[in-house]
Amino acid sequence: MKEQLSSLKKEFEAQLKHASSLLQLEELEQTIFGRKMGAFTTLAKQMKDVANDQKKTIGELMNTVRTKIATELEDKRALLQREEMKKIVETESIDVTQPQLPKEEHGHIHPMAQVEMELSELFRSMGFMVLDGPELESDYFNFEALHIPLSHPARDSQDTFFIKDHPEWVMRTHTSPVQVRAMREHGAPLRAVVPGRVFRNEATDGSHEHTFAQLEGLVIDTDISIADLIGVMKGLLSGILKRDVEVRLRPGFFPFVEPGFELDMRCQVCDGAGCGACKHSGWVEMIPCGLVHPEVLIAGGIDPDVYSGFAFGLGSMRLVMQKYGIEDIRHFQSGDLRFLQQF
Ligand code: DAH
Repeated sequence: MKEQLSSLKKEFEAQLKHASSLLQLEELEQTIFGRKMGAFTTLAKQMKDVANDQKKTIGELMNTVRTKIATELEDKRALLQREEMKKIVETESIDVTQPQLPKEEHGHIHPMAQVEMELSELFRSMGFMVLDGPELESDYFNFEALHIPLSHPARDSQDTFFIKDHPEWVMRTHTSPVQVRAMREHGAPLRAVVPGRVFRNEATDGSHEHTFAQLEGLVIDTDISIADLIGVMKGLLSGILKRDVEVRLRPGFFPFVEPGFELDMRCQVCDGAGCGACKHSGWVEMIPCGLVHPEVLIAGGIDPDVYSGFAFGLGSMRLVMQKYGIEDIRHFQSGDLRFLQQF
């Protein structure tokens, strides 16, 4: 053991002389102290086989050798570091006249995405799933399954982009097609919201875009009533606007709900007194909604004699406009930094 230690020491000294870079020094350290194969480590493992009366002397010797090697490694490391530093200083120069690099700019979340995340969070807290659906949708799910047959006039108001040579596909005109998809996939009872982009062949102006955002909602259960619908709608609006809101229902027609409604909210700008934002009526139209039509439940594979449901289609861009007082829907997709940087 003694001899082995002394030849290890000699071998180390020889190699230490040759080590001319920090990397080589590191490698040398590994060959000595490496956890698995290190020469010293291997010897230390043999300590247990040393005769008891020798253990003390050998143990002390081992400690001395280890300390010596470690100190020499450290000294050499310091030396090499100094040399490498010197080389860098000699070969590199700093140009103090160089202009400062521009400050790194951090992006932030788009106001639309921000509210969509808030909405998803709000609905999750009420036990809803947050679902997704394809933007390129089949004519069947976009119209047919929602009780809007080919000849139906409702199709006129939902003129959209079609795909060349594929009359069976459309860019979805609303998020409602996910209603039937969700029913087929998850069955009843069901609580789901679907935030997403929708498309219309629209002449754009301050309140119309060809590409905009909706949030579809669907609840299916036994004993669903209009009171449930109103409760959830109020929760939605006050949750996002962070204040209590007053709502009212008016009849509205949508082929996939019966009865169908337009849900209005007391104008947040004038508190109902009448102003430009509410066209002097005191109310703003916020959420089309209704009780799910039995034909739609059937298309989703759900028995309308057992289950009923309500659905709504929030124009989420309009909601963001109300929340922040944005006067033109076209700002959202303009990419104009003067708009975006305000949020
Ligand atoms: N999908 C309709 C549209 O974009 C909005 C709508 C109305 C959705 C009534 C609904 C609903 O879920 O019940 O015009």
